[in-house]
Amino acid sequence: MVRVLVLGGHGKVALQMTKILAAHNHKVTSVIRNPDHTKDIIDQYPENPSLIDPVMASIEETDEEGAKKLMEDIQWVVWSAGAGGKGGPERTKAVDEIAAKRFIKAALLAPSVTKFLMVSASSSRRSPASYWTESDVGTFKKTWESIGVYSEAKTVADEYLYDESRKSPKLNWVDICLRPGSLSDNPGTGKVDLGKAKLGGSVPREDVAAVAVELLEKENGGGLWVDLIGGSEPIGQAVERVVSQRITSRE
Ligand SMILES: NC(=O)c1ccc[n+]([C@@H]2O[C@H](COP(=O)([O-])OP(=O)(O)OC[C@H]3O[C@@H](n4cnc5c(N)ncnc54)[C@H](OP(=O)(O)O)[C@@H]3O)[C@@H](O)[C@H]2O)c1
Repeated sequence: MVRVLVLGGHGKVALQMTKILAAHNHKVTSVIRNPDHTKDIIDQYPENPSLIDPVMASIEETDEEGAKKLMEDIQWVVWSAGAGGKGGPERTKAVDEIAAKRFIKAALLAPSVTKFLMVSASSSRRSPASYWTESDVGTFKKTWESIGVYSEAKTVADEYLYDESRKSPKLNWVDICLRPGSLSDNPGTGKVDLGKAKLGGSVPREDVAAVAVELLEKENGGGLWVDLIGGSEPIGQAVERVVSQRITSRE
């Protein structure tokens, strides 16, 4: 059993991840800020609710010490939180960048934590990917024009995760940056395009959650930046391919 801290626990991807993690017999500590969300979290795995432990904390108001405390006895940390555009640019920066960095730092300092998975976004990069189409490049530019504050915040957090992970003396440290295209609430298909994917595509949150758990469960799944949209390759095969071939979308 692995103990997993899920930040942004009531988020739509996080709820799906909680269900899968518990079904795989991992113990989930789910950080939420609204006590009314407790039942939704526990209900993700009625077969054994004791595997899910909701914890009340506002991640944007949690300081470094508080973040470290949340990580006591935790092995894997998942960031699936986000301001979701609510509260203006200041709050987007406060949650998606500043709080994310604080939790990354705390995870790197927490002796028990060995893996950090960031749910990022495929447009969170400074320039278009070399393998994108012209249309993808156009979408990328439009995304930065319309939600530049969000894209900047996510990019800074991703860069921080990568850079600090490379500097860390932790020998068993694994950082994973999972970068989905636009998220849908459609049922999962179990099939994806993972690794160096195009930008113009969406992916069901259920499939994002399944890919995230599969990446976490792989030995040697770290140091990867992987794009994700819906596709035709079964999730298990796609994860095995990117991990074994060390495919990364970081350029
Ligand atoms: N939407 C897209 O198309 C898209 C595309 C690519 C990537 N992403 C990224 O994917 C990730 C997951 O997306 P999602 O759709 O699952 O997000 P979501 O449903 O909006 O969930 C985000 C969660 O973060 C929580 N949160 C925000 N501020 C908090 C705070 N101060 N303390 C505790 N929790 C807080 C929210 O809690 P409350 O319910 O209490 O507000 C919410 O449950 C996000 O990081 C997002 O940026 C999104």
